[in-house]
Amino acid sequence: NVPTVTLNNGQQCPVIGLGTWLSPPGECEKTVKHALSVGYRHIDCAWLYGNEKEVGDGVRAAIKEGIVKREDLFIVTKLWNTFHEIQDVVPAIKTSLENLGLDYLDLYLVHWPVACKNTGPIDFHLPFKDAVYYDHDFCETWKGMEECVDLGLTKSIGLSNFNSKQVQRIVDKARIKPVMNQIEVNPSLTQKNLIAFCRDRGIHITAYSPLGSPARPWKKPGEASLDLEDPKLVDIGKKYGKTTAQIILKYLIQIGTIPIPKSSNLDRIAANIQIFDFELTPGDMCVLDCYNTNTRICHAEELKESNEYPFRGVAF
Ligand code: A2P
Repeated sequence: NVPTVTLNNGQQCPVIGLGTWLSPPGECEKTVKHALSVGYRHIDCAWLYGNEKEVGDGVRAAIKEGIVKREDLFIVTKLWNTFHEIQDVVPAIKTSLENLGLDYLDLYLVHWPVACKNTGPIDFHLPFKDAVYYDHDFCETWKGMEECVDLGLTKSIGLSNFNSKQVQRIVDKARIKPVMNQIEVNPSLTQKNLIAFCRDRGIHITAYSPLGSPARPWKKPGEASLDLEDPKLVDIGKKYGKTTAQIILKYLIQIGTIPIPKSSNLDRIAANIQIFDFELTPGDMCVLDCYNTNTRICHAEELKESNEYPFRGVAF
């Protein structure tokens, strides 16, 4: 069984989940169902990924076959940037629930602190292309998120890609506290300051791109990626009989984050949660800490046009 952490409202969240961005519609249902059958209980998706329906099909198939019960699952999806107006939030979560075929979410996240005009279909491979930004106070969006909790459409609400200053603004104004901030964390970007900042405010961290997102569509030829064949990581893995991917995922859990590795490969899906039968030593953790170069994979450069671009003007 995957261990859980207790969120600031008492809800339990499994410490690792399945990521679904770039999980192709044709495979997504099968991979989600497989993940549930090998022990995952936490599934991360987003309206933007364009596959909520297939994720939901996988979840509902697993429930129908008695593999899991709905109440044992932790299902997460996210509000896209084009639905930040307060009156758009409840309809947006209802659309996601309809796509998923579920009555409620466990966690609904504001995907980015940035509002965009709705200008038509969005390519989920390159979601920021041609986006039109405008100034909108995300504290207003948050009121819509709180309404989702009031209406029983989600148990918890949270943030994604918010920097420390933006988290603080929400914390200062919120009637219902965010339980989570989902941000990029991997050995090249350990985010220790933002993790501590959020922890001090009772907010947990979900780690996206935990394996360095090797299949990201905007990767330039020759651009460095996390090296899963790195000899030092391979050596640590050998001590425990684990792969480097398993070592990295365990590292991310031991620094206090909740990684959500995406995989469409049935063996890798199963292997990525076989990480609860060993502990990395402080020495191993030090070796892994040394890979931090504060290099972002998801810099979302197009978002720089927005005044709320989160990766500028603050230390973390
Ligand atoms: P695949 O779907 O073929 O398994 P991230 O979660 O950081 O975005 O990384 C996801 C990417 O890493 C996917 O391309 C996925 O490919 C690959 N991946 C997932 N698990 C593993 C693993 N255990 N070993 C190697 N690559 C993996």
